[in-house]
Amino acid sequence: MKKYILSITVLMSLIQLFAKEPSAWLFSYMSPDKDNRGGLSYALSYNGKDWKSPSWKHRKFLDGGYAYKGQMKLLDPFVFQDAEKNWHVLWTAANINGYIGHSTTANRDNVVNWMRKSYPYFGIDSQITNPIAYTSRKGDSVVEFKTQDGDFYRTTTRDFKKFTPLKKISQRDYEASCAKLIKNIKLDSEELSGSINPLSEEQLEILKADGEWKKIASWDKVSQRSKDDESRFSGIEKLSVNVKADAKSKKKISDMLIGIFFEDLNYAADGGLYAELVQNRDFEYSNRDRWDLNPMSFWSVSGSAKHEVKTDSPIHENNKHYISLSLDKADSALVNYGYSDKENPPAKTLGIAVKKGQKYNFSCFVKGDIAKTDVVLADAKGMELAKASFNSSSKDWKKVEVALTSKDTSGDVSLKLVPLSKGEICFDMVSLFPQNTFKNRKNGLRADLAQTLAELSPKFVRFPGGCLVHAISGGEMNFYNWKDSVGALEARKPIPNCWGYHQTRGLGYYEFFLFCEDIGAEPLPVLAAGVGCQNPGQQAIDMKDMPQYTQDILDLIEWANGDPNTSKWAKLRADSGHPEPFNLKYIGIGNEDLISDQFEERFTMIYKAIKEKYPEIKVVGTSGPFAEGVDYREGWKVAKKLDIPLVDEHYYVAPGWFLYNQNYYDDYDRKGPKVYLGEYAAHIENRINNIETALSCAIHLANLERNGDVVEMSSYAPLLAKRNYTQWKPDLIYFDNSNVYPSTDYYVQKLFGQNSGDIYIPTTLELSEERDGLKERVICSVVCDSKSGDTIVKLINMLPFESEVNVDLSFIKGKKDVVKTVLSGDYSDQDAKPKESRTKLGGRFCEKLPPYSLTVLRFKK
Ligand code: AHR
Repeated sequence: MKKYILSITVLMSLIQLFAKEPSAWLFSYMSPDKDNRGGLSYALSYNGKDWKSPSWKHRKFLDGGYAYKGQMKLLDPFVFQDAEKNWHVLWTAANINGYIGHSTTANRDNVVNWMRKSYPYFGIDSQITNPIAYTSRKGDSVVEFKTQDGDFYRTTTRDFKKFTPLKKISQRDYEASCAKLIKNIKLDSEELSGSINPLSEEQLEILKADGEWKKIASWDKVSQRSKDDESRFSGIEKLSVNVKADAKSKKKISDMLIGIFFEDLNYAADGGLYAELVQNRDFEYSNRDRWDLNPMSFWSVSGSAKHEVKTDSPIHENNKHYISLSLDKADSALVNYGYSDKENPPAKTLGIAVKKGQKYNFSCFVKGDIAKTDVVLADAKGMELAKASFNSSSKDWKKVEVALTSKDTSGDVSLKLVPLSKGEICFDMVSLFPQNTFKNRKNGLRADLAQTLAELSPKFVRFPGGCLVHAISGGEMNFYNWKDSVGALEARKPIPNCWGYHQTRGLGYYEFFLFCEDIGAEPLPVLAAGVGCQNPGQQAIDMKDMPQYTQDILDLIEWANGDPNTSKWAKLRADSGHPEPFNLKYIGIGNEDLISDQFEERFTMIYKAIKEKYPEIKVVGTSGPFAEGVDYREGWKVAKKLDIPLVDEHYYVAPGWFLYNQNYYDDYDRKGPKVYLGEYAAHIENRINNIETALSCAIHLANLERNGDVVEMSSYAPLLAKRNYTQWKPDLIYFDNSNVYPSTDYYVQKLFGQNSGDIYIPTTLELSEERDGLKERVICSVVCDSKSGDTIVKLINMLPFESEVNVDLSFIKGKKDVVKTVLSGDYSDQDAKPKESRTKLGGRFCEKLPPYSLTVLRFKK
């Protein structure tokens, strides 16, 4: 018996020995990143000698940027496994004294799925560099590092949260440890230095399948492009498809699926949707906005008058600068070309655009001893298109208003203020608005642009950003404080826009809410979660200031929904002209933030305060800038922990991503937080919109409809871009001072927005061919709109040939009037527009889908 037990023990040890034999070795090193943010990359070897990249070379498995307290980069990642086989990475935390960076993975088998970084502090007044670690005989993790002051330290830990007191060690000891732990390898003849760890079979498999990316399609599929479709599908001339609806399995879906996301980027607000025609009306432009801007930008003074920008006794402390002219004779004018750069040739945009017969409201604040001033609209040849006069003499600031009617249409007009006698005169808040704004609102929106947005039939509007809500400007937190964007225009606080220009905030919270009301969309304001944008390095509001910051957010809800008789904030709304509540239902907290401890602490505080005081408000959380990765996982973790109603996801991806990730939401937990896909777009080279980008998004939208029981809202991003003044492409709608140019992606959003439903009817598709990639490119989505009783069928054919589709919707009885809209073109077509026709169809019909097309059939009740 003893013998028997002994041989079992020997056998077990042998098994264990074999089990311990690594399947491969993992080399971990710092990604040689262009912008020097570093990051963690891997190489793999099956023999410990020859190394290759597990996916593509230098791919980052964990970003080294976006650290803590606004610091930019984490460097020198050192990866090791502790005694319990947990993975750790230690980093140099650059530009900050006393900290290191640390992260661990979700579980032991996974070297891909890194979790949120933490920043252990060691109380040393010097930057710590090159931390390394190994396991002691007792099973503790021993950490050693050096400092920029030339000292060397050792400490031990079990959990990387608590550490034993630092012990100074000699340089020799530290270097001896490094010699054992830091190795040099060659990857494609490139010399790299880093750490080497053995990988078990499971770990290797997970790494090879890209672990967390498992549900995301592989790169070779995602990178498929329409230009290769002819050869990809050569030999196929036509496809036959049978579509059968299963009305019994219908399900309720969100009736809020399609909305818009407005951010003042690409001159979307000032010079864009906001109808003000005078640029720098308040003389508040400054080099804080951009290095080349100043209070006189976009203004000039003709004639012999002397001018000065003054700040003493301004109209309001938020609006300090104004212009003072002093004239010895009446030969001068103050000139503004509007949102143009005529003053800075070669001009990319001409002057103010006016239309024949249209009326314009001029207003300004004035003071001085000149009795009368003319206001003139002149075209490029100096021809007066409109003229009026106003009494300009006043000891104190006074507001004057006159209306002008333009005699002609011109896109190259200047506004001139012409004092008619000698003396001194001061102007501020010089403004010119078309009377024809959207819904004729004063201080309103450009009618053509707002109408183009309204035609999307958005169910909600997210505003005012994006990065803009929690911007860092000039290294400082420059959050969009809603309180500074409401009330009298002259008292609003202009701020630098993080996209490199100036925000007047004439289009502020009040105007955003009015616009939502005007187009029947729910307002979705987004506020910073107490932390700044992660791109320049996350900064956070001091915890001692968080109660006030949280209160400001509660005040917004009060402003929007409160009773003016009892609430000071609601009274401000009423005084602006809206005594009725705006009926705010949603509020976004955070924008694709780094999900750090400081984020979670602040977000939780705000979330709990809103939940306690306004339980009816749906808070939208955030899950980082990508469809995977640390922030995505950690953001969802926070959302689930706090049971947040919705999570805002963002991803800008290749068109193929949408084709090969059609099941992305299929396994999302239907009982957990709902999804708001707040920013997405298909990006291709030169960042243009064309039929390829538009149809790939159409496919995604069809999948969002199919998952409309978990995806509650979505918005393409960004929305608006002024031609020649665009910081980010692609966008949904382009414009200049006179025209609007909707993109191909716009038409897709419009077709989905105008043809949304609240009930989804599943369909099955049978294709006459089985070649790889076909089924991902022929998609059908059927929804019913219970309000109108209409049924809508959307058919997408993203193939280079026609698809003949036999559709069986036998739940539709009898012939119905059908509105048919088709958007099609060559995959590279940037100008395609939808064509609408009318027909009659029954529940069974055959539809020939043109190559690269979206067909929408709306069956009238
Ligand atoms: O949509 C443009 C920018 O993309 C947004 O400001 C930001 O949220 C994202 O990174």
